[in-house]
Amino acid sequence: MALFFIQYYLYHLPKGDGTGRHNIRTILEESLEHEKQGLVLYHQLLHHSEKKSVLVEDFARKMIDEEEIHVGEIYKMLMSPETLQERYVGPWPTK
Ligand SMILES: [Fe+2]
Repeated sequence: MALFFIQYYLYHLPKGDGTGRHNIRTILEESLEHEKQGLVLYHQLLHHSEKKSVLVEDFARKMIDEEEIHVGEIYKMLMSPETLQERYVGPWPTK
């Protein structure tokens, strides 16, 4: 879902503000908010479906799993390269 929003915003960005810069950070922050809102809604769905429908419960859990991954990916994209390198476990890829 995050990639969808990024693609959407990139497509709908104004063609230029005269500076030639587009604020990717703002796009990522907005995408993060959408992901978090989705996460809240799937948690609500899980809460309301518990002990009523295993099928819906499983769907909600699967979507929560996916949304949590998306949130983590966006957080990584928002990190500075230095922070990301500090938190990276394992040999740092050189190229
Ligand atoms: Fe998502």
